[in-house]
Amino acid sequence: MVRRGVARVSISIPPDLLKELDSMLEKVGYDRSRAVQIAIRNFLTEYRWVHEQGEVAGALLLLYDHKRRGVEESLTDIQHEHGSVITSTMHIHLDEDNCLEIVAVRGSSRSIKELAEKMMREKGVKQLKLAILAS
Ligand code: NI
Repeated sequence: MVRRGVARVSISIPPDLLKELDSMLEKVGYDRSRAVQIAIRNFLTEYRWVHEQGEVAGALLLLYDHKRRGVEESLTDIQHEHGSVITSTMHIHLDEDNCLEIVAVRGSSRSIKELAEKMMREKGVKQLKLAILAS
């Protein structure tokens, strides 16, 4: 239903997530509608490149538990396999357990997608964030 330039939608959210959202909204002073609009715009910006063919550039941010057996070796193997799209890698030892790796990438969106998916599948990888700019 579209009325006066806005569409009204109904969405389903797990109660815990909604509770977390509401408590964050109190801190930042947004209402739910504004928060969902921001989240949707961020989502679209973040994933727009996924459907694009051609060259993109950016970085993959990877948080992983380096004590997890084999994870560092696997991540290194994956990066060697995809060396043609990786321009540089920065490794930061965050604390006793966690490492942050920033992998700068440049190349076809398809191969970067493949690289990100392979890394994401590794056990021990806690978060992977893509900051990709379609050029
Ligand atoms: Ni480390």
